[in-house]
Amino acid sequence: DWTMAAFKGEMMQAIRDQVGDGQVICGLSGGVDSSVAAVLIHEAIGDQLTCVYVDTGMMRKGESDQVTALFRDHYDINLIHVDAGDEFLSLLEGVSDPERKRKIIGGTFIDIFEREAKTIGGAKFLAQGTLYPDVIESVSFDGGPSVTIKSHHNVGGLPERMDLELVEPLRELFKDEVRALGRELGLHKDFVERHPFPGPGLAIRCPGEITKARLDILREADAVYLDQIRKHGLYNDIWQAFAVLLPVQTVGVMGDSRTYDYVLALRAVTSTDGMTADYYPYSHDFLGETATRIINEVRGVNRVVYDVTSKPPGTIEWE
Ligand code: XMP
Repeated sequence: DWTMAAFKGEMMQAIRDQVGDGQVICGLSGGVDSSVAAVLIHEAIGDQLTCVYVDTGMMRKGESDQVTALFRDHYDINLIHVDAGDEFLSLLEGVSDPERKRKIIGGTFIDIFEREAKTIGGAKFLAQGTLYPDVIESVSFDGGPSVTIKSHHNVGGLPERMDLELVEPLRELFKDEVRALGRELGLHKDFVERHPFPGPGLAIRCPGEITKARLDILREADAVYLDQIRKHGLYNDIWQAFAVLLPVQTVGVMGDSRTYDYVLALRAVTSTDGMTADYYPYSHDFLGETATRIINEVRGVNRVVYDVTSKPPGTIEWE
């Protein structure tokens, strides 16, 4: 696509103009946006870029290995892998308010990036894969007075306490344009087509207090759910799909025993930009089979429900 090729050239020039010969660190989340941002910036400034992948302990199953393999082994991009699971978990202890979770996670990311920036000879810039809808939704809703729907951890609110200058090359793009740019950059199809994944990760899919045990249950259930979607060839028809582990236990029966385990909600939506969304109309067979698999394969879940809320009035994530 010639327009995307031209646009790519312009963005690379803009990045070079902004950073000069400064060092840039870029947070990688494993999502499409940060992956595309990193590859674009790497193409623009090469070794001036160091990527930082923060394992928050709230990633999907297998996520950390996939990200490391792609960036370190395939692209040969400088990559620092920070294992911060314990740090995040201890800061989130006892916290169940969604906005407080987001603020704590966002703040901890910045602390970690600033710490890492010092270790690589004083990076002055922090790159992020912020998209246009992130900018809009963090600032206002419906063009009305400024109302925060959700504090996206990767947008605004933070710079005043931050020494790093932001580099956000995707700030004017929508997701489909980011995917087109990713293809233009030669990013592997598996990455380009990935469903969005929010920076705060599984933390915002675990309403109530987050514990390691609950995260582990959610991670396993989410993996079975996505496996089902892939096996049925539905992955690319869906904008985003994930599981949410509710802080609610219900009574069930397994064999001859009573169970008292968590409820898992499944979410899947279609959308073009994440700003509005419809729930995905799975067949009842698919839903039934998926519920059975999850309950059989994941200890700690004995009931599965499907979220049929569109956006608006729901948001895509539950927190
Ligand atoms: P909501 O839940 O607001 O989500 O309808 C819209 C899209 O944004 C993603 N999302 C985030 N992405 N950092 C991100 O990078 C965040 O803090 C964040 N919160 C939500 C969400 O997964 C959906 O694709």
